[in-house]
Amino acid sequence: MNPRTIFLLSFIVFFFLFSWCEGGRKGYDKGIKGMFVFGSSLVDNGNNNALENSRAKANYLPYGMDFPLGPSGRFTNGKNVIDFLGDYLGLPSSIPTFSDPSTKGMKIVHGVNYASGGSGILDNTGIVSGNVTTLNRQIKNFEEVTLPELRVLIRRRKSSLDNYLFVVGSGGNDYSFNYFLTNSDAQVSLPVFTANLTATLSGQLKKLYSLGARKMVVISVNPLGCSPMVRANNKGQCIETLNQAAQLFNLNLKTLVDVLKPQMPRSNLVFLNSYQIINDIISQPASKGFKEAAMPCCEVPSLSEGGNGVLCKNGGKTCPNRTNHVFFDALHPTEAVNELIASKAYGSQLQTEVYPTNVLHLANI
Ligand SMILES: *[C@@H]1O[C@H](CO)[C@@H](O)[C@H](O)[C@H]1NC(C)=O
Ligand SMILES: *[C@@H]1O[C@H](CO)[C@@H](O)[C@H](O)[C@H]1NC(C)=O
Ligand SMILES: *[C@@H]1O[C@H](CO)[C@@H](O)[C@H](O)[C@H]1NC(C)=O
Repeated sequence: MNPRTIFLLSFIVFFFLFSWCEGGRKGYDKGIKGMFVFGSSLVDNGNNNALENSRAKANYLPYGMDFPLGPSGRFTNGKNVIDFLGDYLGLPSSIPTFSDPSTKGMKIVHGVNYASGGSGILDNTGIVSGNVTTLNRQIKNFEEVTLPELRVLIRRRKSSLDNYLFVVGSGGNDYSFNYFLTNSDAQVSLPVFTANLTATLSGQLKKLYSLGARKMVVISVNPLGCSPMVRANNKGQCIETLNQAAQLFNLNLKTLVDVLKPQMPRSNLVFLNSYQIINDIISQPASKGFKEAAMPCCEVPSLSEGGNGVLCKNGGKTCPNRTNHVFFDALHPTEAVNELIASKAYGSQLQTEVYPTNVLHLANI
């Protein structure tokens, strides 16, 4: 072959490879090109793995035992809600973690996950976990590291940030590992604390809006009072005070969705009520295909047993059937529950589950 033929052939090969790659992405013609994810362990997909002095890590078995690549840092046995939501939206594979140094260039075009286990809406919430990336820091990482590079990429692809989903799932730790842990003498009343939390989150959502976010999903706080962690210290029973705190916050969050919309032109927000969805399972497990809604699936050593009463024992035993348990460890739902939450987020017609609309509709607005 002469050089000219070789040149032509490599050009053709390159062209085919290029169109094949582009074609592989056509599953997402629903208007969502990717997701930027902020929040706590419920949506963290491995950012804490690299964090020094963090006690909130899940990068060991049995975490990930049902995940195709094994333990990844996800706080569950398999996929989390974000993974399933990405599947529904037709996004390619999983969203890369911000903490991975290779998360740059083309790897960021379908979004980045900044979430950090143990973190909360407030900067001081992560203290008990040793080291976390606070929500404010997560947003700064998006602004300072990802956004400058992303702007160039999306301009080149004639895309826009309008086509990305911004998911924020935080708040539970602000109650469980901040308010109720350090404020037991109630120096600040619950309504005052909750108002502060809501106002802080409101500022964070406005910040994301100012950076270009137009489609946002905010996730409620779960029924904190019915987690195995709480039940373990209350003779197996739920603690209603904690559930009421979660409900108060969630009500504020739902209202915030209505309040913010007129303040942020061309924006659309969805409130995902994971509290309601999990509570429906816990109150009637059998009707939703579950058998165990109170005990964790994995072995969770208490403080006196050398654990922290929350996370699975490294290399510990698990229940034989993960799909009929609600909780994998003492705080985080199993993959089966995550799948249900994501399916409701995507397609539920009930405003008690997704308000004012679902993610499928949000994607097509
Ligand atoms: C938290 O982890 C980061 C990344 O490993 C490290 O740079 C930082 O010093 C750590 N902070 C604390 C308080 O340990
Ligand atoms: C929340 O409370 C803290 C501590 O009192 C205060 O510094 C902060 O400004 C408050 N935030 C909002 C949004 O009210
Ligand atoms: C596991 O539990 C699910 C839900 O209860 C049930 O459908 C399935 O048959 C169980 N699998 C096994 C192997 O027992």
